[in-house]
Amino acid sequence: MKYLSKEDIVNKRVLLRCDFNVPVKNNCILDSSKIDKSLETIKYLLDNKNTVIILSHFGRIKTEEDKINNSLKIVYEYLKKFIDLDFINDPTNLDLINTSNKKCFLVENTRYTDIPVKRESANDLELAKYWSSYADAFVIDAFASLHRAHSSTAGISKYLDTYLGFLVERELTNLEPLITNPKKSFLVIMGGAKVDDKIKIIEALIKKCDKLILTGGILNSFLKVMGYNIGKSLVSNDETILESVKKIITNNEDKIYYSTKFIVKRNDDILETDLEHIEDNDIIFDNIIDLTNISNNIKVVFLNGTSGKYEIDEYSKGTEKLLYDLKNMGCDVYVGGGDSVSAVISLGFKDAFKYLSSGGGATLEYVAYGKLNALEYIQNSEEKK
Ligand code: 3PG
Repeated sequence: MKYLSKEDIVNKRVLLRCDFNVPVKNNCILDSSKIDKSLETIKYLLDNKNTVIILSHFGRIKTEEDKINNSLKIVYEYLKKFIDLDFINDPTNLDLINTSNKKCFLVENTRYTDIPVKRESANDLELAKYWSSYADAFVIDAFASLHRAHSSTAGISKYLDTYLGFLVERELTNLEPLITNPKKSFLVIMGGAKVDDKIKIIEALIKKCDKLILTGGILNSFLKVMGYNIGKSLVSNDETILESVKKIITNNEDKIYYSTKFIVKRNDDILETDLEHIEDNDIIFDNIIDLTNISNNIKVVFLNGTSGKYEIDEYSKGTEKLLYDLKNMGCDVYVGGGDSVSAVISLGFKDAFKYLSSGGGATLEYVAYGKLNALEYIQNSEEKK
C-alpha cells in the first residue's frame, strides 16, 4: 500500500475520497469532527499545487426524497469557511472541473447514483472509471467507509495510482494494538440500540476477547433469551438472531458480563430497579454495570456503543458511570462508533482514553475481522498494476 505521507503528489489532479457522513439536525451539523479530521489531507494536497476533487457519500439513498434530505451542500457551506472550493451538484457530471478557476471541488453525494439502479453501492466500475477520467491519482481518506467496497472507496483504485491519506494512516496505526494479539486481558464492551446489526460482530469479537460486557439495547435480547422479564423494552423479533444469541450465551457463559441494575420507565415514572424486579409494562432505557469483579487484570478495552439514551439526562447515568470507571481502571481504552465517541465527548471524557476512532461500522469490522473490504480491494488493484 502507498501512503500519502511517504510520497510526493505535486501538480496533479487528485480524486480524494472523504467520509463526510456527519450527523445533521435542523439543518445544522451536530458533530463536524469527521470533516475537521480530513482537512489536514485536503490542505496538504492543495499546498502541493494539486487540484482536489472530493467525493463522499452522505446518508442512505433509497428514494428520490432521500436525495433532498441528504445533499452534501451543507458540508460545502461548512468547508467554505476553511477552503476556497466549488460545488458540483451532479456526481455523474464533473465537467465543471474543466471550466472553473477553483482548485478544489466537492462533488454531490456519491450515493445519488444509486437511483434508479444501484451504481456507487454496487461498485459499478463504469462509474469509477468515469470519475477516474478526471484525475491522475486517488487518495482515500475515508476511514469510516472502508468496510464498504463501493465505486468511490474501492473501484477507482483499478484506474488510478492509489494512496492512503493521513486520516486512514492514523486510524490504522492507532488501532493496530487491537488487531494482532491484543494485550491480555482484552475486554470488549458492546452497547447501542439494536442487536440485529451487531450479532455477527459479537460472534467474531467474542472469539478474540477475554471478557465481553453487553450493555445498551442489545443486552435486552440476551436477557430475554436467558428467561428474564424485560417488560416492553426494545428487543429483536428475528428468530435467527435470537437463535444466534442463544448460541453465544451457551458457548461463552464464562466470558459474558452484564448489568443487574436498570433504569426503566414505569407508567409515567423513571426509576431504578434490579433485574429480578422488572415489571411487564417497564421499558428499559439505561443500565448500570458494576465493574468491580470484572476489571481484574484488564489491559486493553474496546468500547462500542452506549448503555442508554445518554443524550437524555435521566438515561445518561449508566454510560457516565461506565466511562468514569473505565477512566479509573488505568488501562488502554479504545472507543469506536459515532455514538460512543459523541457520548465520551459530551459527558466530559474527551481526553480520558487512549484513542477515539472516527469509524463506526468500519472500526467494528476492523477490530472484529482484522480487515476492511475496501482496503483489501485496493491492495488487490495495486498488486495487479
Ligand atoms: C458511518 O457513518 O459509519 C459511515 O459513513 C458509513 O456509513 P454507511 O453505514 O451508511 O455506509
